[in-house]
Amino acid sequence: MMKMNILLLLSLTLFLLLISPALSLPLCTDLSAPVTHKTPLTFCNYNGSSCCDSTDDSNIRKQFESMNVSQPACASVLKSILCSRCDPFSAELFTIKTVARQVPVLCNSTVSSTNNYCETVWDTCQNVSITNSPFSPSSQGEAPTPTNSSNKLTDIWQSRSDFCNIIGGPSVNNSVCFDGKKVSLNITTNSTKSPPTGMCLEKIANGSYLDMVAHTDGSNRAFFSNQKGQVWLATIPEVGSGRGLELDESNPFLDLTDQVHFDTQFGLMSIALHPNFAQNGRFFASFNCDKTRTPSCAGRCACNSDVNCDPSKLTSDSAAQPCQYQSVVAEYSANVSSSSRASIIPTASPVEVRRILTMGLPFTSHHAGQILFGPNDGYLYFMMGDGGGGDPYNFAQNKKSLLGKIMRFDVDNIPSESEVTRLGLWGNYSIPSDNPYIEDKDLQPEIWALGLQNPWRCSFDSERPSYFMCGDVGQNDYEEVDIITKNGNYGWRVYEGTTIYTPEKSPGGNTSISSINPIFSVMGYKHKDINKNEGSASITGGFFYRSTTDPCLYGSYLYGDLYAHNLWAGVETPENSGNFTTSNVTFGCAKDSPVPCDLVPGSELPTLGYLFSYGQDNNKDVYLLSSSGVYRIVPPSRCGYTCAYESRTEGSTPAPTSPRGSSSNMLKGSCKSLLLLLLLFIGLSY
Ligand SMILES: *[C@@H]1O[C@H](CO)[C@@H](O)[C@H](O)[C@H]1NC(C)=O
Ligand SMILES: *[C@@H]1O[C@H](CO)[C@@H](O)[C@H](O)[C@H]1NC(C)=O
Ligand SMILES: *[C@@H]1O[C@H](CO)[C@@H](O)[C@H](O)[C@H]1NC(C)=O
Ligand SMILES: *[C@@H]1O[C@H](CO)[C@@H](O)[C@H](O)[C@H]1NC(C)=O
Ligand SMILES: *[C@@H]1O[C@H](CO)[C@@H](O)[C@H](O)[C@H]1NC(C)=O
Ligand SMILES: *[C@@H]1O[C@H](CO)[C@@H](O)[C@H](O)[C@H]1NC(C)=O
Ligand SMILES: *[C@@H]1O[C@H](CO)[C@@H](O)[C@H](O)[C@H]1NC(C)=O
Ligand SMILES: *[C@@H]1O[C@H](CO)[C@@H](O)[C@H](O)[C@H]1NC(C)=O
Ligand SMILES: *[C@@H]1O[C@H](CO)[C@@H](O)[C@H](O)[C@H]1NC(C)=O
Ligand SMILES: *[C@@H]1O[C@H](CO)[C@@H](O)[C@H](O)[C@H]1NC(C)=O
Ligand SMILES: *[C@@H]1O[C@H](CO)[C@@H](O)[C@H](O)[C@H]1NC(C)=O
Ligand SMILES: *[C@@H]1O[C@H](CO)[C@@H](O)[C@H](O)[C@H]1NC(C)=O
Repeated sequence: MMKMNILLLLSLTLFLLLISPALSLPLCTDLSAPVTHKTPLTFCNYNGSSCCDSTDDSNIRKQFESMNVSQPACASVLKSILCSRCDPFSAELFTIKTVARQVPVLCNSTVSSTNNYCETVWDTCQNVSITNSPFSPSSQGEAPTPTNSSNKLTDIWQSRSDFCNIIGGPSVNNSVCFDGKKVSLNITTNSTKSPPTGMCLEKIANGSYLDMVAHTDGSNRAFFSNQKGQVWLATIPEVGSGRGLELDESNPFLDLTDQVHFDTQFGLMSIALHPNFAQNGRFFASFNCDKTRTPSCAGRCACNSDVNCDPSKLTSDSAAQPCQYQSVVAEYSANVSSSSRASIIPTASPVEVRRILTMGLPFTSHHAGQILFGPNDGYLYFMMGDGGGGDPYNFAQNKKSLLGKIMRFDVDNIPSESEVTRLGLWGNYSIPSDNPYIEDKDLQPEIWALGLQNPWRCSFDSERPSYFMCGDVGQNDYEEVDIITKNGNYGWRVYEGTTIYTPEKSPGGNTSISSINPIFSVMGYKHKDINKNEGSASITGGFFYRSTTDPCLYGSYLYGDLYAHNLWAGVETPENSGNFTTSNVTFGCAKDSPVPCDLVPGSELPTLGYLFSYGQDNNKDVYLLSSSGVYRIVPPSRCGYTCAYESRTEGSTPAPTSPRGSSSNMLKGSCKSLLLLLLLFIGLSY
């Protein structure tokens, strides 16, 4: 009976998961990251980084014993197959076309017989009786029917090729299959391109924007938002056309300046389009408001009794009233009727359709605020910093606090008001059924990942959506880039980078080092290693570069520092390993830039000012959004850099025309009033 329950549990657990294709990253079947546990496994041979803890290990042992296989060769093969669930790549091994499997994809090489593990399994086990065989066809996707029967493979499958066609699969391109051993990646793949000698930028606008999102209709248009609270729909010129961004400043798509509290550290932080925006017109904005100015804009204070924080004591930490400033996610609607093409959406109404969430902020910094829809799941991710001040209340590690977290909401199923109250939600969204609180009851249901300080600019790799990358701002020493996984704990403020962090004050207590399994960053930089003219450092996370415009950057993850002293490119070797090597990238401005760049006096280097964000358009071209304007990465040859892969016929002879177009369509002037400096707002404490 007990065996049955365990088996049923394992089957159900695997079956209920909705796993997406294109994983290729060390990732477990529940989409969490593999972890190195302190106690080694006693049954499965997966010490070190693994998807199993001792409980999983003992469940696998019980499942193995329940199969009652005494024939040694087959028993050994079965053990390795069951234990492959512990492999750091188990999400990929157990997945084919979105359906989670009972057994991993067994390598079935048609090219040579050197390692046809699927044939080995068949040959070894075909005549052996297996109780509750995991190899029944129904267990490859349909609900398994638990039976107590003993089966041989030959009872279930006509022939070896029958078996291998279903259970097996080839090792192609980046996908991995199980060959009886721990997955190892092919290091000889041709990902080691000659690094670029430099990154060439062209300036396409003078305006200062905090966020850019490509239109979901696939066109050459994108939305740009500024910190003050305005959003424009702009047309992006072709690379090499010599033209600037077409953005009519006098005609914003949406103007939220009346709602938005705009100050050095506050404003309209981010915008997001519903995946079906082109059909449903649903548009989301994340901004700050001041409840003393807009009394109706007030949510629950993030400093509250659930998280051992007394709001009345906050005043000593900040000049503001307790929870005076709020972090808001709100929904708006653009007028898309079924008859009109998305290409003529003129404006959206500044009247909110729905408040998704309002949260009072304890201090004035580290309140990230980016919103992004997950490309695989369609859920809304919301990045939130620790609130600032070195996190005295230990919010980032507190599983009941939404500070220092990445949250995930379902905004397609809005519960009733009473349901929101019953569930104790912070706003109008529902909780995706596989948010990690399902496994960890201590977690607030909104939480997807924890232990972040100020996730400043995250993105999903457009080719591998399981690479959910975030820059996370550091405190005194280290800025990091993390790969965000389900229920991942990124360590802050037990750790800053990989160093134990000692808080200056900790009225909210501390989290013990031994109680967490931190996931350390995959890239980053030390403050002392960069040239700090302004005495500080603060990371701005970017994108995996997936455009062909600069072929030497293709596949690199790009990020930089807010103060733009440095830009970096991270190259992953082997591919899909999560092992990155970073290099400091030299950058220049194209001589034929549509808008001339300001140069560092006496040099050819452009002065970027503050690097707020990166953006990506529908061609996967990457943009730098800085206080001095909008820059696009263009072919290296336009700056005189060499890239062996650059095709000299495309884009190498742009017409170096001066910016043209009707003056109302062009960005007018540098608009000093909008170009407020986000002074230290991301990086520094209150
Ligand atoms: C894992 O650790 C256990 C206990 O220390 C040991 O028996 C086993 O051989 C180790 N396995 C590997 C692959 O190192
Ligand atoms: C296990 O197999 C042996 C024969 O190999 C059989 O005698 C025994 O009853 C089986 N046990 C169970 C629990 O099925
Ligand atoms: C399994 O049985 C088949 C036919 O009964 C026989 O040809 C084959 O050699 C057997 N294989 C093993 C490994 O015993
Ligand atoms: C499996 O065996 C147990 C007892 O050994 C029995 O209670 C149960 O009904 C059996 N299940 C099936 C599906 O035959
Ligand atoms: C597995 O290999 C066999 C030959 O050994 C081949 O006929 C079959 O198509 C392969 N199946 C898959 C899914 O690759
Ligand atoms: C593998 O990659 C190549 C080139 O990138 C592509 O043409 C091919 O279709 C891919 N094969 C599979 C099975 O995805
Ligand atoms: C590794 O990659 C190379 C080049 O893509 C390929 O020829 C080789 O077969 C691969 N080796 C394995 C073990 O997959
Ligand atoms: C692999 O890289 C070399 C240069 O390092 C290049 O000549 C070759 O064409 C590349 N092969 C592929 C398949 O990209
Ligand atoms: C949307 O369009 C309809 C008809 O074209 C118009 O009546 C309505 O006022 C528009 N709404 C907004 C928010 O612009
Ligand atoms: C990580 O990348 C570096 C640099 O390419 C390489 O030397 C090292 O072997 C890689 N480490 C692993 C574990 O693959
Ligand atoms: C990075 O590159 C810049 C020039 O692009 C150079 O001034 C700086 O010293 C480099 N920094 C490091 C740490 O190599
Ligand atoms: C950008 O600003 C410069 C001066 O800083 C000005 O000469 C130029 O005309 C502006 N370009 C556009 C497109 O607004």
